[in-house]
Amino acid sequence: MAGEITFSMIKPGAVRDRNAGAILAMIEKAGFDIVSLKKTALTKERAEAFYAVHSERPFFNDLVSYMTSGPIYALVLKKENAVTDFRTLIGATNPADAAEGTVRKLFANSMEDNAVHGSDSDENAQIEASFFFAEVERF
Ligand code: RTP
Ligand code: MG
Repeated sequence: MAGEITFSMIKPGAVRDRNAGAILAMIEKAGFDIVSLKKTALTKERAEAFYAVHSERPFFNDLVSYMTSGPIYALVLKKENAVTDFRTLIGATNPADAAEGTVRKLFANSMEDNAVHGSDSDENAQIEASFFFAEVERF
């Protein structure tokens, strides 16, 4: 399996809306290999740690509360140019700005409830993958 990895979450709203399967199908059709996958949930402490970079932002408390509102799917994905290509596949943070055919255009309900997360750099992809998965859980 050639390529770099990225880390993704299918967020609580998309799981609640029963769109996880459709989103996984889009990811596979776009050429990503699924390296690791689990359904889990974030505690408040773990959500705060995952999004620590945003801790001073006005939306931080709402984001933590949203991300702990239900189960998520955690995913490690592999492809050439995984980080960049995945962010293209998911579209802009705000679904109002997301391109046609992107995951967020199709499945996001709002800026906060925006269906998926995607790592923003190779370095963060490694950190985020390690946040959810042991080395032996990557295939
Ligand atoms: P993500 O990290 O989830 O892939 O999203 P992103 O890079 O496109 O956006 P980022 O700036 O990292 O923000 C992380 C998440 O915080 C929520 N957010 N809410 N209300 C707001 O102004 C606002 N801004 C960001 C979104 O859920 C966003 O995905
Ligand atoms: Mg981000």
